[in-house]
Amino acid sequence: MKAAALLLGLACAVLVTRAAAATSPARKGVGAQKVIIKKASPVKKTVPAPVRARLPAAKTVQPATAPAPATPDASYDERELIKMPSPARLALRAEMRDRMVALDAVLQRLSEGKVEEAGQIAQLRLGVAVWWNHTQLPAVAQPEQYMPPAMQTLALDGYKAATDFATVALTGDRHTATAMLPQLTGSCTQCHQAYRIR
Ligand code: HEC
Repeated sequence: MKAAALLLGLACAVLVTRAAAATSPARKGVGAQKVIIKKASPVKKTVPAPVRARLPAAKTVQPATAPAPATPDASYDERELIKMPSPARLALRAEMRDRMVALDAVLQRLSEGKVEEAGQIAQLRLGVAVWWNHTQLPAVAQPEQYMPPAMQTLALDGYKAATDFATVALTGDRHTATAMLPQLTGSCTQCHQAYRIR
């Protein structure tokens, strides 16, 4: 029995030694890998974390035809902030919502062939007339005075594009009126991409 136990002990000892010998190169390998990772990690750290987080998101969100990605992340917002008092901000936003409704109505009428009606709506609710409507607001609520000159120009361009569209649509020329639409909608987009008020 004693001899058997001794043999078993010896066998175990041999096995353990072999196992140790077998794992030691592997350990060296792991160690070497660790060194590589350690060397690589400072390079990764040179790119600031927020930038790395943003880049892939921009690529996945961006639709092929849109020039800018739509995202709720405020850190993306590169539009110039135009500060104006609350009454002016509310007045501008209210006008904007009406412009959206009016534009929708214009497109509907146009597709139904009611070209003159589309022209009337554009003239009254999107055209230069809207600019003058602002003078009826209390002085503090008139948005234009807070706009930088470039933004005022964009605003005026937008009203003019609508009035031009209206002038043509009122003649019943559906084809030319339709061709002028991108100029009108483009004016909305141009300003929205450049400015924000909050
Ligand atoms: C001169 C610049 C300018 C033009 C032109 C313009 N917008 Fe705006 N619009 C703005 C600004 C600034 C905001 C507010 C953005 C923000 O919330 O910071 C806005 C906001 C809006 C909103 C959101 C309103 C709300 O309740 O927040 C709608 C809808 C809108 N615009 C529609 C239009 C449409 C439709 C047109 C074209 C027919 C148009 N806009 C043309 C500057 C413009």
